[in-house]
Amino acid sequence: MKDLSIYSDPGTLADSAAATFCALANNAITNHGKFVVALSGGRTPKALYELLATDERYRESVSWKDVYFFFGDERHVLPDHPDSNFRMANEALFKKIPVPASNIFRVPTELADASDAANRYQQALLAFFASNSEIEDDLPVFDLILLGMGPDGHTASLFPETAALDEKVKWVVANWVAKFASWRITITFPVINHARAVAFLVTGRDKAPIIKKIVNGSGDLLHYPVQRVDPHKGHKIWFLDQDASYLLNGKTTAEPFQNKISSSESNAAISQV
Ligand code: 6PG
Repeated sequence: MKDLSIYSDPGTLADSAAATFCALANNAITNHGKFVVALSGGRTPKALYELLATDERYRESVSWKDVYFFFGDERHVLPDHPDSNFRMANEALFKKIPVPASNIFRVPTELADASDAANRYQQALLAFFASNSEIEDDLPVFDLILLGMGPDGHTASLFPETAALDEKVKWVVANWVAKFASWRITITFPVINHARAVAFLVTGRDKAPIIKKIVNGSGDLLHYPVQRVDPHKGHKIWFLDQDASYLLNGKTTAEPFQNKISSSESNAAISQV
């Protein structure tokens, strides 16, 4: 099932995304005792993380001890580096909620070799998902994977014309990104497409041309990495602000997503995988 909602501004988008995050979290905790989420990096999700941590409508509505945090991707920098996705999430969210440190799985980017970091991270995922019997078809089953999108149509650290796009077996790989002359560590499309829910948070006018191509279907099929995200059994949810969607013809309701899934429907979607 695909759902797309447009919000007047990033703050309204973050509020709806926070409500959806909490709805999915409570469904997962009710259904199987925990909520396993992969966070996205970059700038956009910071407002969501801060809202989850500081707005009591959200902070008080989730049993954080039952939430397990992973990262969809990471820059190959130390965890206290300004570019670190872990550092952003730690400052915006982890430090402000009662989540056990053992529930947070960051990418070990202190390892000098990015491939070592990716392999070590994959081992951590394997151990966690195996111990929780949440491996199906040789892939981990996340309850939610948060994703952003760059103006080039990348998502996570799956950039156009990079080797990671074609990985079919590994869960986590190191990916050389020539445009940044740097290594990234990223989960792969098989993992993303095995999630119970995937949510894109996309803001900013620079994203509008790609959004138009993707939503109106005018882009080359699978030309952009983001077009390869297609959860086999789960929800795919788009949260767009007006700036990112101003080139779309017609309007899509800005009704918050979590109001669109009845508990039975969300349970059905979540329990499908
Ligand atoms: C990263 C992200 C990346 C991000 C997009 C959008 O590590 O940078 O995972 O995929 O989501 O680049 O970034 P913004 O939200 O900053 O526009």
